Amino acid sequence: MKIARTIEEVRAAVANARAHGAVIGFVPTMGFLHEGHLSLVRNVATAALSGRGAAEGSGTHMFIIVSIFVNPTQFGPTEDFSRYPRDEERDRALLESENVDLLFLPEVDVMYPPGATTRIDAGAVARPLEGARRPGHFEGVATVVAKLFNIVQPDVAVFGRKDAQQCAVIERMTRDLDIPLRLVFGETMREHDGLAMSSRNSYLSADERAKAPVLHRALRAGEEAITHGIREVAGIEKLMHRVVAEEGGVEVDYLAVVDPLTFEAPRDFDREVLVAGAVKIGRTRLIDNIRIPR
Ligand code: PAJ
Repeated sequence: MKIARTIEEVRAAVANARAHGAVIGFVPTMGFLHEGHLSLVRNVATAALSGRGAAEGSGTHMFIIVSIFVNPTQFGPTEDFSRYPRDEERDRALLESENVDLLFLPEVDVMYPPGATTRIDAGAVARPLEGARRPGHFEGVATVVAKLFNIVQPDVAVFGRKDAQQCAVIERMTRDLDIPLRLVFGETMREHDGLAMSSRNSYLSADERAKAPVLHRALRAGEEAITHGIREVAGIEKLMHRVVAEEGGVEVDYLAVVDPLTFEAPRDFDREVLVAGAVKIGRTRLIDNIRIPR
C-alpha cells in the first residue's frame, strides 16, 4: 500500500493505475477505522468489479483508494474536532490487510490552503435532523467530499448508510454538479448488542457503553410499530422516546420517522420510510437509523 500526503502524489498514482486499465474505487473516511469502514472497502472492491471489467471478462482490475482526513469544516465550534480519535499506525495496518492500493493522508493545509473559502450547500435535504442540530455540518461534508472526488476522480465511491442523511446529501450533490462517478451505499455494521459501529464509540465509558444500545432498541421499536401497521408518526416517535427514557441517563436529540429522500415527515407509508435518531450519552453524540421498506 502506497501512502500519499499531497494531491500531486494522488494524481500521479491514479494516472498510473488508469494507464494500466484499472477501475478506481474510493472510500473516504476520518480514520480510527472499524469493521464498518472495512466493510465499505470490501464493498468497493466488489462494486468496482461488477460495474465493468468483470462482466466483459477482460481482466480489468481495481485500484482501491482510502482517504483519512478529519475534516475541520464539518465540525461545529463546540464539537469534538480536536479530540476526535486518531491512530494512523493501526489504520495503516488494517488497510494494508484489506489490500488497499493507496492511502491518502492529507494535512489540513493540503485540503484547505490559506484563502480557500468556497462551500457547497446541497439545499433542502441538508436542512432537517442533523442539518438542524449541526449548523454548517453538511456544507463541510459536501465541500470536502467534492474536493476528494476532484482529487481522486474515482469511478466508484462508497458511503455507509449509518450516515443516511450524509448519503442523501452526497447523492444530491453528485447529481446536481454532474460528477461522473457511481455511488454505492453499504449497510450499517453493528456490535453484537445492536450498537452501530462508530469511531466515536471509543469516547464511551463502560457505564455509557452499556446504555448505548438503547438507541438501536428505540429505532427497532419504531420499526416494529410500522411493520405492524401503525401509521401515526407522532405516536411512533413517542414510543421511541419512551424506550430511551426507560434506560435513563440518555438525552434524546431527535427520534424521527422520515421520508428517506427528504428527511421530512413522510407523506404516507406507501414508500420506504426511515426511523432515525440521535442521542447524547455524557459528552458523546451517537446517531443511527433503520430503513423500513413499504
Ligand atoms: P467517517 O465517520 O469516518 O465514516 C466514513 C464512512 O464510513 C462513511 O461513509 C460512514 O457512513 C461509514 N460508516 C461509519 N460507520 C459505519 C458502520 N457502522 N457501518 C457501515 N458504514 C459506516 O462519514 C465520514 O467519516 C465523513 O463525514 C466523510 C464522508 C469522510 C467526510 O469527511
